[in-house]
Amino acid sequence: MRINDFRLECYFAKYEFSAKYLLSSSDCESLKLGDLLQMADQECMALWDDLKLGYTDSKGHPLLRNEISKLYRKIKPEDIIVLAPEEGIFVAMNSILDRGDHVISIEPAYQSLAEIPESLGCAVTRWPVSLNDNKWSIDTSYLQNAIRSNTKLIIINFPHNPTGFIPDPGEFKTIAGLAVNNDIFLFSDEMYRYLEFSESRRYESAADIFSNGISLSGLSKSFGLPGLRTGWLATRNKTVMEKIRRFRYYTTICGSAPGEILSIIALRNKDRIISRNLDLVRKNVQIAKMLFNKHNGLLNWIEPQGGSIAFPHLNEKIHADEFCRKLIDLKSVLLLPASIFNFPGNHFRIGLGRINFPQALNVFESFIDEHYAP
Ligand SMILES: Cc1ncc(COP(=O)(O)O)c(C=O)c1O
Repeated sequence: MRINDFRLECYFAKYEFSAKYLLSSSDCESLKLGDLLQMADQECMALWDDLKLGYTDSKGHPLLRNEISKLYRKIKPEDIIVLAPEEGIFVAMNSILDRGDHVISIEPAYQSLAEIPESLGCAVTRWPVSLNDNKWSIDTSYLQNAIRSNTKLIIINFPHNPTGFIPDPGEFKTIAGLAVNNDIFLFSDEMYRYLEFSESRRYESAADIFSNGISLSGLSKSFGLPGLRTGWLATRNKTVMEKIRRFRYYTTICGSAPGEILSIIALRNKDRIISRNLDLVRKNVQIAKMLFNKHNGLLNWIEPQGGSIAFPHLNEKIHADEFCRKLIDLKSVLLLPASIFNFPGNHFRIGLGRINFPQALNVFESFIDEHYAP
């Protein structure tokens, strides 16, 4: 298998553990191990204390799959496999797709969503999220027209990385309807689920919509627990799930034993963890908007509807690549330029889920004042 470099992960690898301020991270502030353990009920504490560090059930701990199934309407523990989120994309694409299949994928996007289908020899049509009247939008008729007789899979991701876009309810219904009525698999990356700023924009999971819906979710973003490496795939399609299980024996085989117990604890405290993270994101959005309005000759805020990231616009006179490079070199503040997403516009991704966001933004502002004062 030949695959292109994962631009975002390569960029992060270069700076993530040396930069002073991570102003582009997509995960919410992580909990400390001790804080998470404090939330454990008696059953989880006993599981933690008695844990043997052996191999685990390759489908995922039954109690963990039981907690995950509660997040869905129609999904049972046997419709779930627990794996690392990124692994979920890799394994699902390898299990669903064959060379020559046609795929339609939202664009820009977390690179592997379209990169893996392409590496498997599929033709991928990119379905753009574009900017209209300073709002992110999609055109469902573009999706409809892109469908071919050999279209096997539609890939979506809402709340969307990197824009924070969520379609309106009518648009979402149209997308789901196109998949259902044309008998096309729908892979829905729901990694930022529960961070919708309005609950009315939290739509049904693909796995609940129909049997060819496959939902990817996990604890990395909304729960702020990426170090657990806990994600999952949910689908009611038994054939696809069986293929996924078999393929997974070639990746990690099974999950990490401590990670599973900690994940059960996190899911049993979902409301508490999510509301802490959503509050944080909401506060940070307000702070960001103030700064962007103050510097509106240079920066243009584009409102996200959910998730923990936004994709604002930078004045065309300064290339986002150069702006971000200078910012990391001079101030040790990490932003992601749009080129990392192969996106032609002059945007950058900003992360909204971290506690030190106000401090990072102060340093960012000092950079603007020193180098781009009007
Ligand atoms: C949309 C999306 N899907 C999947 C992933 C993969 O998650 P993880 O890094 O926890 O494997 C990410 C991570 O950034 C993401 O943004």
